[in-house]
Formats: sequence, structure tokens, C-alpha cells
Amino acid sequence: RRKPSRKGSMADVPKSLLEAIADLEKLFIVDQDKLKQITDHFIGELEKGLDHEGANIPMNPTWVMGFPTGDEQGTFLALDMGGTNLRVCEIMLPEEKGEFDIIQSKYRMPEELKTGNAEELWEYVADCLQQFIEYHHEDEDLGALPLGFTFSYPATQDYIDHGVLQRWTKGFDIDGVEGHDVVEQFEAVLKKRNLPITVAALVNDTIGTLIASAYTDPAMKIGCIFGTGCNSAYMENCGSIPKLKHLNLPEDTPMAINCEYGAFDNEHVVLPRTPYDVTIDENSPRPGQQAFEKMIAGLYLGEIFRLVLVDLHENKNLIFEKQDISKLKKPYTLDASFLSLIEEDPFENLSETRDLFESMLNIQATKPECELARRLAELIGTRAARLSACGVAAICRKKNIESCHVGADGSVFNKYPHFKARGAQALREILDWPKGKRDPIVLSSSEDGSGVGAALIAALTIKRVKQGNT
Ligand code: GLC
Repeated sequence: RRKPSRKGSMADVPKSLLEAIADLEKLFIVDQDKLKQITDHFIGELEKGLDHEGANIPMNPTWVMGFPTGDEQGTFLALDMGGTNLRVCEIMLPEEKGEFDIIQSKYRMPEELKTGNAEELWEYVADCLQQFIEYHHEDEDLGALPLGFTFSYPATQDYIDHGVLQRWTKGFDIDGVEGHDVVEQFEAVLKKRNLPITVAALVNDTIGTLIASAYTDPAMKIGCIFGTGCNSAYMENCGSIPKLKHLNLPEDTPMAINCEYGAFDNEHVVLPRTPYDVTIDENSPRPGQQAFEKMIAGLYLGEIFRLVLVDLHENKNLIFEKQDISKLKKPYTLDASFLSLIEEDPFENLSETRDLFESMLNIQATKPECELARRLAELIGTRAARLSACGVAAICRKKNIESCHVGADGSVFNKYPHFKARGAQALREILDWPKGKRDPIVLSSSEDGSGVGAALIAALTIKRVKQGNT
């Protein structure tokens, strides 16, 4: 593919659209000062979350109390229930340090399940698991296989194989799960089917990513997900978690914290929300929640883009004159991959963008309209990358981490064009790194880490139980 050449591309864009683009730039560009201000506020919010229950950012202790040593061994199942897919993996940790073998199957989470009820959810998850076992282990006697369950939603954990769902995120709205222990609900369905499986650990995807990345790279200090949702995890010392004080845990014992910082700034103190962000929030199943995530995560990027275009057509009469935009008017009709394709359009005349509008939305976009769409995608994608850097910078500053690796996973991180470079640039601006030197904090891809992470955590848990430290 030819590298996009954008020289002089706005030359034939009429004044009215240039003004619209300038207005969008004002709304969506987040400058260095704002990034720093957001990060400063973020640090305080992380601290509040460690201090008491009910803070904006939950900072959930996860009972993962150390990194793997590389000596973990055995065969484990891992089930990863993210926002879009369900993945079942079998992971073999062999004798060799830091190695693993994995077989896996992916299933799509049916849309209707996301707003259904608890029973339908767990039956579906158990179906996938059962299919996987029957396919890979026909007629074998497996014994009781331990399972690491990656459940990527905020949960209150009193111990590692337990977790009460605090609230659904990422557009899920399934009745009868919030306020309940998801392990108990899931195990009840497994038992009914006589499946020889026990849930050894309930794991957030960020925690899985953190542990899996640290397994192969000891410089990894933070695990992040930039996908359907957005969140991070890192190791804290028990002594720095005031809300656990009553448990008298040794002060220097590590405890992995699932920040759940998609909920950052639910009070709307610092984030530069646009009217489009407000609409997304109001029309979501959980208004008032996940303010940060709704500006950043893959689930919402296409929707922000769509809302802007509808506004420019309907209220400002600036684009798609006399066109039928009924397809564009359907909420959540575009996902982040639509924006990715526009940002990747290699052609000077944006012909791929034009084709996309035609094939996906039945809209004949003019060249200037394609130019506007391209700039809009850039603005939304850049804002997401820059804002997400604030969360990582806040953890590093809170923990006085001057250099480290950050393991990151998720469709936006791995697939969205320029996301990594834009995020890295924002980190440089927030943390004032000297120019021309190598970045001391670097995000790198830990693709599919959460499955391996869940298996490692299951292994660590079993080891801990055997040693009598439950
Ligand atoms: C949402 C979930 C969180 C998860 C993140 C990434 O923020 O609440 O648990 O880690 O999405 O999948």
C-alpha cells in the first residue's frame, strides 16, 4: 500500500466545510495543558479509589498477589468473556520457563444476549465451553480441570474465585447479575451439566494482560486494554490500600489492582466532553457511568463519528445534501473499524472512503465530504489515544515509576491506525520527557495475553492454596 500523501488535500473544500472542520478541531483537540490537568486530577481519583469503597474509580483489589515466576506448570482452561467475543482456551504451561502452548476457539457474543437475562448468558457461555471440550477431548476423562475465568467487568472480590458484579459496562445490560457472585452463577450451570470444571480464579482482562506480559518480560508494570472498553491494572502494596486496612495484610505484600478507570470523571470535572459525548452517555443503558471510557473505547468511536455526521447533515445542512441518510441514522451502525479504514485510505482522492460511504451507508459522498470525514476520524482517533495516555501517566506518576514497559491489548491498540504513536506522543507531552532520547515508558502489544494470564493466575492460585496461604 502506498503511504498516504495528503499534500494540498483541503484545497477544494468549500469554506462552509472548512469552518465546520475548524469547529470540530476546537471540540476534539486536547492540548498538552489539558492532558496534564486531566492526569493531575486522575492521580487524586486513583488514590480515592484505594481509600474507600464507592469512589468514582473502583480500584478493585483482585487477590492476585504477585507475579509468576516462570515455574508455573500444568494444563488449564481459560474462558474470556470480553465485550465482543467469547474465547475458550486450553493452555499448557510446560517445564520450560516462560513458555506456553495454547489452543483456542472464538465465539461471537450474540447481540441479543447483551440485553437478555442471567440464565441465557450462563447457558450460552457453558454451551461454548462444552463444545470446546467435546471437540478437543472427545471421550477423554479429563479429571477436574481448573479454569481461569476472564470476566472483563467491574467486580468486588473478597477472594480470587469470587466476584460480585458491581455494574455492567460496555453496553451490556443483562438482568439478574449485578449484585451477584458471577462465579456462583456460572458454576451452578456447569454443575447442572456435569462438566468437570472448577473456577480457580476470576480475572479481569487487564489483570490477565498484566500477568501474561510480566511472565515474558519482567519490566512490565502495567496491563492495559484499549478495545471495546478501556481500563488498566497494576501492582500496589497492601500497605497503600487504606480500604483493606481492616484485613491486616502485610504492608509490603503486592496486590494487583483492577483500576476500572473507564469510570474516571463520572462527575464531569475535567474531561473535555463534547455535545456528542453527552448524547452517547444519555442514550446508553447506563447514563452517568464510564465517562472516560465513552470518549475512548472502541465501542464508542464509530458512534461519536456517526453523531457528528448526522448533526452536520440534519441541523447544519452542511453535508450529504438531498441524500437519504436513513442508514446513518441507526445508532451504533458504525464501529471503530469504519474509522480505521478511513484513516488508512491510501488514495489522494479518498476513493476508498467514498466507496465505504456508498457500500455501508448508501450515501454518495463528495470529495470535500470525504475530506471532512477523514479529518473527523483523525480527530476522534487522536483524542482517544491522547486521553488514554492520561490513565497510564497517572498510574506511573502515582507509583513514581520512571521507566517501565506497559503490556497492552485490545482491538483499538492493535488495529487502530496510529493509535500507539499518538498515545506515545501524548505520554511525552504529559511527562515532559527530554526530546531526542528513548522513551522511558513504552507500551507494547501483549496480544491475547488475557487468556494466558488467566491460566497463570489459576496456576498461581492453586500453588498458593497448596502452600496454605488462601
Ligand atoms: C470495561 C470493563 C473493564 C474492562 C475494560 C476492558 O471498562 O468495565 O472491566 O477491563 O472494559 O475490557
